Amino acid sequence: MSNEIKTIGVLTSGGDAPGMNAAIRAVVREAICKGKKVKGIKRGYAGLLQEEIIDMDAHSVSDIISRGGTILQTARCLEFVEPEVQKEAADICRKNGIDGLVVIGGDGSFKGAQRLAANGINTIGLPGTIDLDIACTEYTIGFDTAVNTAMEAIDKVRDTSTSHERCSIIEVMGRGAGYIALWCGIANGAEDVLLPERYDYDEQKLVNHIIEGRKKGKQHHIIINAEGIGHSLSMAKRIEAATGIETRATILGHMQRGGAPTCKDRVYASTMGALAVDLLCDGKTNRVVGYEHGEFIDFDIDEALAMKKDVDEYQVRICEDLGNS
Ligand code: ADP
Ligand code: F6P
Repeated sequence: MSNEIKTIGVLTSGGDAPGMNAAIRAVVREAICKGKKVKGIKRGYAGLLQEEIIDMDAHSVSDIISRGGTILQTARCLEFVEPEVQKEAADICRKNGIDGLVVIGGDGSFKGAQRLAANGINTIGLPGTIDLDIACTEYTIGFDTAVNTAMEAIDKVRDTSTSHERCSIIEVMGRGAGYIALWCGIANGAEDVLLPERYDYDEQKLVNHIIEGRKKGKQHHIIINAEGIGHSLSMAKRIEAATGIETRATILGHMQRGGAPTCKDRVYASTMGALAVDLLCDGKTNRVVGYEHGEFIDFDIDEALAMKKDVDEYQVRICEDLGNS
């Protein structure tokens, strides 16, 4: 039993996401239930390199399940791509007795986790990002809260857009992926949704669509623009000039990353956090947890990182149909 995990470390890395706290809480409490010690690593890989490591007990995670953000804080640590830095980080884990590590973050963070596993630290990744852009899973911690936050904000913009009979361009986050934009497109009944995966940059088509809508009596025209396309402010100016219809741009920005997690994010993040500990206790390493077809599952990190993902074609089509018939 010499390989048995005794101490589990947990860190959050990359952009924060609502539900990360629920995942941290689950890691800590499940580990304690299984008789393990737990250490929290502050500020992701940057904090690991600085040995910002704290002992955690059940009380350390009291009262956090309902809170957005991450109590461990997070960071982007560019030097972590260097092999000698990764080796140093694994040595720091060993020095602090951390023989199992849970990394909560996106694809970039998983690459770091993969390197730590290759350097002898048993590592499990949990998908934490509002972007939903991790190929091995249909669910990522934080997407549900973020998309609900964006949806509610867009409803509000729509009210004023209708009152003033304006065109509104609302830019949502997602980095290079259009999941938040697409889901809001359907949920908010947008007239146009610009997805990085599909947009053809034909602005004249948009202009024609807005004019057509106005002729049919539409009192507003909601365009949801994904951050991966961006340039909403200049787009608004060009559209106003071309259509003669007042056009405003709203960039929702970081409000989408904050706020109390939804019930789904709390429950799924808790399940994933506990599962990560169970996997470590079963001797697993270099794995990421995902959710597919109603089940929580795990994949080899190398395989997970090689997978590709695209927005759902049927959703893209109905988004267009339902917003325009
Ligand atoms: P996310 O985890 O949300 O995808 P990033 O892409 O910013 O966010 O990655 C988070 C962190 O993961 C980076 O700041 C870096 O420390 C680490 N990371 C990213 N790419 C690599 C890589 N190729 N090798 C090792 N670590 C990486
Ligand atoms: O990955 C989450 C995310 O919010 C993306 O949607 C966005 O592109 C990026 O992070 C913003 O990063 P930062 O908070 O560093 O500006």
